[in-house]
Amino acid sequence: MKKLILSAATALVVAFAGSAFAADISPAAVKTADNVCSKCHGAGGATTSPLFPRLAGQQAGYIEQELKLFRDRGRGDPHAQAYMWGIAGPMSDQQIKELAVYFANQPPAPGQAVSDKELAAKGKALFQNGDDSHGIPACASCHGKMAEGNDTVPRLAGQSSDYLMGQLEAFRSKLRENDTMDTNAQSLSNDQIKALSAYLSSL
Ligand code: HEC
Ligand code: HEC
Repeated sequence: MKKLILSAATALVVAFAGSAFAADISPAAVKTADNVCSKCHGAGGATTSPLFPRLAGQQAGYIEQELKLFRDRGRGDPHAQAYMWGIAGPMSDQQIKELAVYFANQPPAPGQAVSDKELAAKGKALFQNGDDSHGIPACASCHGKMAEGNDTVPRLAGQSSDYLMGQLEAFRSKLRENDTMDTNAQSLSNDQIKALSAYLSSL
């Protein structure tokens, strides 16, 4: 009898923990993600299209910040304007928060195979150590050793290399305005951008 009560109590705790977790993910956000976002970002945000950024496993703080920037027209590179301004325009802070929590809780898609291992190795060295003589900081100091990101600093691991290249070029030309990254990207050469993107997409 004692054993039965104990296992019933355990079941209750497990059920409660399960529902508490599920309650953190808003059903409305799941619906929006399935019906709207998935068309470009893929199911669960894990698209394999090179055109669209992966959102699966991205930092919640970063997703929230970017959606607010799109909504308030603070991120204005041409693709941001064309694709995301209209979508984020009518969102409330609460909807944005819920979508951010949903995507951050999806398992990140695995990295993509690299064809040019030498290029990726160059990207890895630059990502980890930077290049003092050209004023390039160690990207890992902010984005994390494995490019996992932290809060409002984005995860870069496993992101599409075309997307990463496009963003680094947009920071360099200041089409995408961000004081920190515009400065960091200033002295990157095209070859370095290619190498960094090849490495990061493989993680
Ligand atoms: C019609 C295609 C399309 C749809 C639908 C769409 N997006 Fe996007 N999204 C894009 C593109 C393209 C970009 C990259 C913009 C750029 O290059 O600056 C993007 C960028 C983003 C980013 C920034 C990612 C990063 O790594 O910086 C977030 C966050 C985002 N979208 C969230 C959403 C959410 C949430 C939805 C659903 C409510 C959604 N998107 C629906 C095309 C789309
Ligand atoms: C001082 C901290 C810092 C350093 C160093 C840094 N970053 Fe960033 N990075 C950021 C922040 C913060 C953002 C988010 C910017 C925004 O909100 O628009 C960002 C955004 C990015 C993005 C856009 C990702 C996306 O999903 O759109 C890329 C790509 C990127 N960084 C690559 C790099 C690379 C490559 C380096 C090294 C050359 C680097 N970063 C160094 C802080 C840093």
